Amino acid sequence: MTTIAVIGLGTMGLGIAQTYAAAGFAVLATDAAADVRDTALQRLRARLARRVQAGKLAPSDLDALVSRITLVDGPEAMGRADLAIEAVVERMEVKRALFAALESVVAPDAVLASNTSSLSVAAMAQGLSRPQRLLGLHFFNPAPVMKLVELVAHPGSGAAALARARQLTERAGKTLIPCPDRPGFIVNRCARPFYGEALALLEEGRCADEIDAAMLAAGYPLGPFGLIDLVGADINLAATESLAAAMQDHPRYHVFAALRRQVAAGDLGRKTGRGFLFPEKPGPAPGDAEAIVLRIETALVNEAGWLLAEGGTTQDGIDTALKLGLNFPRGPFEILAAQGREPVLARLQRLAAAAPAHLQGRYRPAPGLAMPHPAAGPAPGTR
Ligand SMILES: NC(=O)c1ccc[n+]([C@@H]2O[C@H](COP(=O)([O-])OP(=O)(O)OC[C@H]3O[C@@H](n4cnc5c(N)ncnc54)[C@H](O)[C@@H]3O)[C@@H](O)[C@H]2O)c1
Repeated sequence: MTTIAVIGLGTMGLGIAQTYAAAGFAVLATDAAADVRDTALQRLRARLARRVQAGKLAPSDLDALVSRITLVDGPEAMGRADLAIEAVVERMEVKRALFAALESVVAPDAVLASNTSSLSVAAMAQGLSRPQRLLGLHFFNPAPVMKLVELVAHPGSGAAALARARQLTERAGKTLIPCPDRPGFIVNRCARPFYGEALALLEEGRCADEIDAAMLAAGYPLGPFGLIDLVGADINLAATESLAAAMQDHPRYHVFAALRRQVAAGDLGRKTGRGFLFPEKPGPAPGDAEAIVLRIETALVNEAGWLLAEGGTTQDGIDTALKLGLNFPRGPFEILAAQGREPVLARLQRLAAAAPAHLQGRYRPAPGLAMPHPAAGPAPGTR
């Protein structure tokens, strides 16, 4: 029987263990914290009991699912894993030490995967005796519900390991989108302008309320500020700062003062009871809603264009990732196809001409947009 190992049983790890167990795999699971480990199955049972109550899961399936998960003391007891996925704390040295421990016990062809959101998979592979078996499997929260998994290849990832991770994770019902080992992978990077351009509009004097109302009217399930309020302004700020640092503070990843102020004031959104909009809801869309939507979508198209030009992904992959990862009603390349290249380029030119000093360079068109055909070839750099 194929065995999946999951290390770290917090928010993500327990959901990942559930995902593979639900698909019939044997799961070995562990966490460094004894209390987290000891309560893991209890927490899982409580979560699944709600599904039983809602009539979405048979009680016998709950028992069968939980019985497929075996808790073990640590990675040394995971030698029979075919695929080992870590979802431990987001620290390079912790993940490296864990993979070194796993590598010493698993079979030579076992695959090792990280669920990291922001660390370099290539850097994680350094020091491993078989770096070709390491890759990223980036699940989204909540892991059992979200269909998307970004399959992250570093330059040394082997084709056999990538194919095996894909096959096993597809059997667990996920859609895998290959993506390069670049900061933010696809979704966390391509989502930046959704928030950033909304914050730019706010800085120009527009209200959060009308920006969100415009996006809702255009089919987005949440507006940018509603999404920040849901996830937390602190989490959004940390993700924005991390990407800005990784991209040498390029103005496309500008960290807007309004976001910093929001965090400094402690108005983080739902979790503190007050956010950009929360507890209010957006009202009716403003008269110029279409212009707001075009502005934000133009920035989304351009960011996706820059990522595409850097290689390792496809237009379809980016579109699918944003639709599955963020429930966007359409992907950036579908937007581009619907709106046409010339109007998008013209809007970028107008935005560039009007950009204040701190946003100079933000609206430079991606190479594939500026040419008649999408650019292929090596990364042209981000500036
Ligand atoms: N939370 C999210 O929305 C989300 C989404 C995608 C990816 N991720 C990534 O998943 C990983 C885990 O995030 P999380 O939100 O589940 O964190 P979490 O804090 O909820 O859980 C992490 C768990 O790892 C355990 N742990 C720490 N060091 C360990 C070690 N050396 N060995 C075994 N267990 C160890 C901790 O005791 C804790 O229970 C991170 O890399 C994060 O970037 C998080």
